[in-house]
Amino acid sequence: MSGLPRILIVGYAGQVGVELQRSFSDAAEIICHDRDTVDLAVADQVRAMVRSAAPGIILNAAAYTAVDRAESEPEAAMAVNAMAPGILAEEAMRLGALLVHYSTDYVFDGSKSGPWIETDKPKPLNVYGSSKLAGEEAIQRIGGSYLIFRTSWVYGPHGNNFLLTMLRLARERERLDIVDDQLGAPTTSIELAGATRAIVNGVFTGSCGSANNWAGLYHMTNSGATSWCGFARAIFARADALLHGKAPAVMPIATTGYVTPAMRPMNSVLSNEKLYTRFGIRLAPWETALDAVIQRLTAQRFDET
Ligand SMILES: NC(=O)c1ccc[n+]([C@@H]2O[C@H](COP(=O)([O-])OP(=O)(O)OC[C@H]3O[C@@H](n4cnc5c(N)ncnc54)[C@H](OP(=O)(O)O)[C@@H]3O)[C@@H](O)[C@H]2O)c1
Repeated sequence: MSGLPRILIVGYAGQVGVELQRSFSDAAEIICHDRDTVDLAVADQVRAMVRSAAPGIILNAAAYTAVDRAESEPEAAMAVNAMAPGILAEEAMRLGALLVHYSTDYVFDGSKSGPWIETDKPKPLNVYGSSKLAGEEAIQRIGGSYLIFRTSWVYGPHGNNFLLTMLRLARERERLDIVDDQLGAPTTSIELAGATRAIVNGVFTGSCGSANNWAGLYHMTNSGATSWCGFARAIFARADALLHGKAPAVMPIATTGYVTPAMRPMNSVLSNEKLYTRFGIRLAPWETALDAVIQRLTAQRFDET
């Protein structure tokens, strides 16, 4: 038994939500919600969900994550990414519960030449980034026992993500043109959930001290950085067993050659030093984390056959 209080996982079916369920599976009680049971765009439903669960920990892995679609649905993105986290923070405060929330590298405009630190000024280029920033601000305004983890380029064995899209496209095409001038840190849902678990343990065993010592905003990504093109090449270099040796040719292109409704930052690499200094936690290099996901996918595939 973990000794953790009752946990509410919001967005349990998403990439990070699934891995949070795994990482916290030994908790005495976990209550899970997703779109099938609650619409986070409806304030009363968000409040009712927390009040009926009465958790000691809220893990919010839900978000409106369709970056391009958000440009034409700003109200929907704001409701889920800004309004709902604010209500979760209010309800967590009322219960004296810990709120863990995830945010994004897309709060930055990409103009910095080195890694972004937590005190750098956010300036989102798109609606998704603006809505996530508003969510961070809503939680910070309310305060209490909260942890906001800003992460980037999330992927894993499950859900909608770049890795699974690349593996699908590899079966359909012989050549892929991939953007090579946006830099970031691919980060696995597995590592995010594992680090979250370790930090929550520290908070509840008291080894992190009082909330004054640890509550706040942290960057949390796998270490290192690459471009989308570098990420694609690294995927295909490891995916022989999944693709039966049929990797496509990957051609680098500029952002200007791949027009999307939402603008994206050119450099969204986040510094993880604050996380390390405060909690002694460092996520693996992104290549090592990618190895682990490919291994899990390969094992799943052989399990299925
Ligand atoms: N994905 C990335 O590259 C990335 C990068 C940086 C930060 N993040 C952050 O990391 C966190 C986890 O992201 P993720 O990639 O795991 O997201 P995800 O796979 O898209 O999962 C998000 C979950 O939220 C649910 N959801 C969305 N709108 C909802 C609504 N109105 N009511 C109830 N549930 C709703 C989704 O349900 P449906 O599937 O039915 O919509 C989905 O299950 C988020 O805070 C995200 O902003 C993600």
